[in-house]
Amino acid sequence: MPNSNTEAEQFEKIRTKVFPSSETAVRELASIVANVIRQRQSEDRRVVLGLATGSTPVKLYRELIRLHRKEGLSFQNVVTFNLDEYYGLPPNHPESYRHFMEVQLFEHVDIPRQNVHVPDGMVPRPEVYAYCQEYESRIREAGGLDVQILGIGRTGHIGFNEPGSGPDSRTRLVTLDRLTRRDAARDFRGEANVPGNAITMGVGTILQARELALLAWGESKAAILRAAIEVQQTDTVPA
Ligand code: F6R
Repeated sequence: MPNSNTEAEQFEKIRTKVFPSSETAVRELASIVANVIRQRQSEDRRVVLGLATGSTPVKLYRELIRLHRKEGLSFQNVVTFNLDEYYGLPPNHPESYRHFMEVQLFEHVDIPRQNVHVPDGMVPRPEVYAYCQEYESRIREAGGLDVQILGIGRTGHIGFNEPGSGPDSRTRLVTLDRLTRRDAARDFRGEANVPGNAITMGVGTILQARELALLAWGESKAAILRAAIEVQQTDTVPA
C-alpha cells in the first residue's frame, strides 16, 4: 500500500519552479492566466481570479496590462476577489489594498467594475463576522476561485493569515504580526501608523482555489520559502 504520508510525497505535492528572473516568471504566469481567460471566453464563461497585493505581484499585473493593451486580452469575463484589506482604511486611502489594485491593475484593463471584490476595511466591528461570511458566499456564488495568486510574508503568511492560522480558517478579522507591521512601516511612514488588524480570506478559503501560484522574489524570502515548501506542514507557517 503506498504510504502517502512520507515527507518526500508531501514535498512532491508542491511543484516548485525556479526562474532566472522575476520578469521571466511573471511572463510565464501571465500567459497561463491569459490562456485561461481566453479559453473561458471561447466557452462564454467567466473566470474567477484570486488576487494579492504587495510588491510581489506588481510585475505580473504590469504584464497582464501589457497583454491587454498590446495583444487585445479582454477582462470582460473576469471576476476578481482580493485576499485582504487593512482594517480601518477607507478605499481611497493611499495604502489601502483597494487603492493599490485600482492603480496597479483595475484602472488599466476593461474589467467590469461590478466584477471586482476587495474586502471592505471600513465595515463596523459588529458587522464584520456577517460581512466575512458574505465575502465567502460571493466567492462560492461566482463559482469558486479558479486561479489564486499569492505572495508570502516573512512570517509565512499568505493573505494576512499569520502564524497560528489553521488550514480550515475562513475569511475573518485578524491581528497582524509584529514583523508584518514592521515590514509595512516604510509605506506607512512609521510602524505606529500601520493598522493592527486586517480582513483576510482564510487558509481554507485559499486552499479551495482550483489552482494556486505563490510567487516569491529575492533573498529576503528564501528562508521562509524553504520553511513553506521543504519542511513538514505546520500552522506556524501558514503558507
Ligand atoms: C497581500 C498579501 C500578503 C503579501 C505578503 C508579501 O495581499 O496577501 O500576503 O503577499 O505580505 O508582500 P510583498 O509582496 O510586499 O513582499
